[in-house]
Amino acid sequence: MKQFVFLLCLLLAHAAQAQTSDAAFRQWQDNKFSMFVHFGLYSELGGVWKGRPVTEGYSEQIMAFAPVPKSEYEALATHFNPAHFNADSIAALAKRAGMRSVILTGKHHDGFCLFRTKTTGYNLHDASPCKRDLVKETAEACKRAGLNFGLYFSLIDWHYPYASPMSSHNADFITPEHHEYTKAQLKELLANYGPVSELWFDMGSNTPEQSKELYELVHRLQPSCMVSGRLGNDRYDFCVMEDNRYPDATLQTPWQTCASMFDETWGYRSWQERKDADGKAKEKIRALINVASHGGNYLLNIGPNGQGNVVPFEREVLENIGKWLGRYGYAIYGSKPSPFNEDFNWGTATRNGKQLYLFLSGSYPKDGKITLHMPGYTLEKGDGKMAAYLQYGDEIVLTVPASAYKDSLIHVLTLDFDKEIMPLPAKETRSAVLSAHNATPLCSYSGIDYYTNYKSTVGYVWNFNQILLKQLDLIYTLQEAGRSVDLTIDDTTYNLTLDEGKPQKMTPLPGTEWGELYLYGPEKGSFNDSPKEKKEWKKVAERNGTIACKPFESYWLMQEVESPRAQRIMVEIGAGNGVEVCVNGKSVMKHLNPYRCTFRKEQVILPLKKGSNRITIRLYNRFEDRLQYLFRPAETPVIYRKEVTLPEMLNGKSHTVTIRPHNPVSPHADAELSNLRIRLRRIAM
Ligand code: GLC
Repeated sequence: MKQFVFLLCLLLAHAAQAQTSDAAFRQWQDNKFSMFVHFGLYSELGGVWKGRPVTEGYSEQIMAFAPVPKSEYEALATHFNPAHFNADSIAALAKRAGMRSVILTGKHHDGFCLFRTKTTGYNLHDASPCKRDLVKETAEACKRAGLNFGLYFSLIDWHYPYASPMSSHNADFITPEHHEYTKAQLKELLANYGPVSELWFDMGSNTPEQSKELYELVHRLQPSCMVSGRLGNDRYDFCVMEDNRYPDATLQTPWQTCASMFDETWGYRSWQERKDADGKAKEKIRALINVASHGGNYLLNIGPNGQGNVVPFEREVLENIGKWLGRYGYAIYGSKPSPFNEDFNWGTATRNGKQLYLFLSGSYPKDGKITLHMPGYTLEKGDGKMAAYLQYGDEIVLTVPASAYKDSLIHVLTLDFDKEIMPLPAKETRSAVLSAHNATPLCSYSGIDYYTNYKSTVGYVWNFNQILLKQLDLIYTLQEAGRSVDLTIDDTTYNLTLDEGKPQKMTPLPGTEWGELYLYGPEKGSFNDSPKEKKEWKKVAERNGTIACKPFESYWLMQEVESPRAQRIMVEIGAGNGVEVCVNGKSVMKHLNPYRCTFRKEQVILPLKKGSNRITIRLYNRFEDRLQYLFRPAETPVIYRKEVTLPEMLNGKSHTVTIRPHNPVSPHADAELSNLRIRLRRIAM
């Protein structure tokens, strides 16, 4: 067999081009815990309109949900006087809570500005009797208290006359006039109030150009200001989970969970039932631990009332969290995510240098034992007070008394090791074929707007144990052909183009039977929602069709395939704004299509088991009013194999392979490499 030796070129490992300084990133990530303050005209209403508690929607959006006529809402400004809003006492509370920054709603969706601005009279200084600028007061109070100060800024505006009208989803397009208005306000905010540690853009649906322009504007005026992912189109310094959501993975990008005290509202709600501040504090401490153990930053909200008073319940919760952080904050601030690749029932971990911190935040292990698999590390010192420690080779076994869990406090144990703790390698795969299905995905967050956002897979990593490795075969479809990828083997990166591969037919096994095709929908939801099993499927005659739909309405296809044996089959799938494919309930491929793409056809390899298989496809629609779909067996199922000979034989046992697209359009965009397989070839000596 003729063997191609392809040109392998060594690349210097390079981090994604960051606009913001490394120090700003580090500071932001090390801060870990911040205060969000939702305050505005809506605080005055406290979730009540004309005597009726408004139970729909968030209370800061009462104008939309009550609804309150624009003129009546805006008239509130003429007597809004939050005499008790005391920025110094809010900053002092943040400090007591162990928070490191305060993010204030400079302008929320209602368009009312808490800062003095030349762009509109609809601001606290000019429209209200109090003549105050709360952005200024809060920025200065934070400075005095040694806290970072950041701003929430709504990209939609219900006051500005030339903006898109109010909608039910808040992810409206931004008119050119509105974009200019935003720029003018941002220039003021970034010039007049000293350093702004983060700009927390929210909602709206920018075009890629609008997002880029605002991102660059912020960095031109304040290079160290961290920009939130809700600016849209992957322009961000940190991404934000959907409201009150927690990730289930460590992401390859700075990220944040924003949370309110009660999921139902961010702005003050006078009729909110508030009980058990201790229980609430514990819930939020657990959330903070969860976020820190996945490497994130936690932004917890308070919603002062119309006079500017902090709600006593919220104060108590924060003070309780602060007490816990006073004792165990060393395991949170500046920490790195858990080195383990799995989640445990007993709790979770963070690390810092040679120290490993174990949070007993889960449930007490039945036998009282916590076992940690840490090959290559020697335990030098355990936290003798609460547990007994033993090391057997790679395993560290802790015996923890039940009392450690019964306490009202969530305890943390510290373990000292002989060297700096690094992320532990994922489980080794024994298979000689590396694929998306046996890889550890490298995850980030990618998207267009709040709804069209999801945990993306930007690359794959495998650990394997193979000696005398000299050659790899890269196997791919027409879909990947021509693409350039970075393949890192241990510490060496090779840039490869997936071309000149040898074609090979990939015919389905005889006896593979396709059933009818079914459709379900429409259904609303964001792209991040996890796939649910659908009912009420309706047969569709066409494998290629068009459905009338509305923006935000997605459809699902369902197909049963009978397979005589386990096999992989190639199919053709066509969808619009985004697509997700599940085989037997497991997601095997998911990505957004390039910005507002109305139809894209692609080849996808699906792993089938013996017997009947159920394939479901989500056709995600965010922007269109027609949805074109396609699902059929690939017409010409061909795979390509490219042989790659390494310059030197790989010796030794444990190796790591990472694959990522070369120069991706965005460091957060999905790698779209789920079809790719890498066969490890051992050379006979
Ligand atoms: C949402 C809401 C907004 C709230 C924000 C906080 O996007 O539209 O009212 O301020 O989340 O995360």
